[in-house]
Amino acid sequence: MTTSFEYEKSAKYADLETIYANCSGPGGLKLAELIAYKLGLRPGARLLDVGTNHGYQTCFLAREYGVFVVGIDPYVDPDDEEGLYSVEHLARNARSWGVEDRILPIRIGVPDTGLATDWFDAVYSTTALEMIRGFDGEDRYRECLAEIHRVLRPGGLLGYGDPMHLEVDIPPDLLSLVTRGEPSWADCFATLDQTLDAFRSVGFEIVEADYAPDARLWWEEYARYDADGRPGDDPDSEAIRVDAGRWLSFGYVIARKAS
Ligand SMILES: C[S@@+](CC[C@H](N)C(=O)[O-])C[C@H]1O[C@@H](n2cnc3c(N)ncnc32)[C@H](O)[C@@H]1O
Repeated sequence: MTTSFEYEKSAKYADLETIYANCSGPGGLKLAELIAYKLGLRPGARLLDVGTNHGYQTCFLAREYGVFVVGIDPYVDPDDEEGLYSVEHLARNARSWGVEDRILPIRIGVPDTGLATDWFDAVYSTTALEMIRGFDGEDRYRECLAEIHRVLRPGGLLGYGDPMHLEVDIPPDLLSLVTRGEPSWADCFATLDQTLDAFRSVGFEIVEADYAPDARLWWEEYARYDADGRPGDDPDSEAIRVDAGRWLSFGYVIARKAS
């Protein structure tokens, strides 16, 4: 399949079964590489990763870009057979990747992090905050963005990626598939413009934002490899197949805290 971005760094990690077992969302390490490229990450930068899950993206960013990462995640993944907190997996993965000296896992979440104001050079967050919109509503989602804005240094960048939907009505044959569940995908996913409104409302300047060029490829990979997306395990793969790129997408935003 052709792609529109040259994934040089993530191409070295070819075991998609393992990557999707440790990422939990569309895009895996390709998503991390796209956002890291857009952020212009440099060795030694202080990065906050919000919503690490098992932390493969966190380890990838530490190893490939030489950044120091504080990885935060407050929860145990309900499907985790070992019943470990996400940050316990992150600590284990950091050791196996040989980057434990560049990763600090902390079991906290946005918006109540208690982290220092104006400290991070950059924040990375993918496929984490859209669920907060679905569970707790738009106001709480914006409180999370405001907390990220607070901990960034002036001039610092947020690299954000989330499942989003295109500016179209839900196709009738897709409706029941994306409105099931509490919360449903339709409750969680916004358009790119709605997302940008939220970013601006907490003070961010938008540097760049778009629907990801490989959104459909990422969703198809998710349906093939992620345990949550696979046929038989979960209805997500049916929604991805029926949608066929008409409504479902994946957006990214690079946003700056004013200097
Ligand atoms: C679907 S995983 C995404 C992991 C990874 N970034 C990726 O894109 O594959 C989302 C993670 O966000 C975490 N999360 C949920 N609410 C959070 C919060 N308020 N603060 C930080 N992390 C949160 C969840 O526990 C989960 O591990």
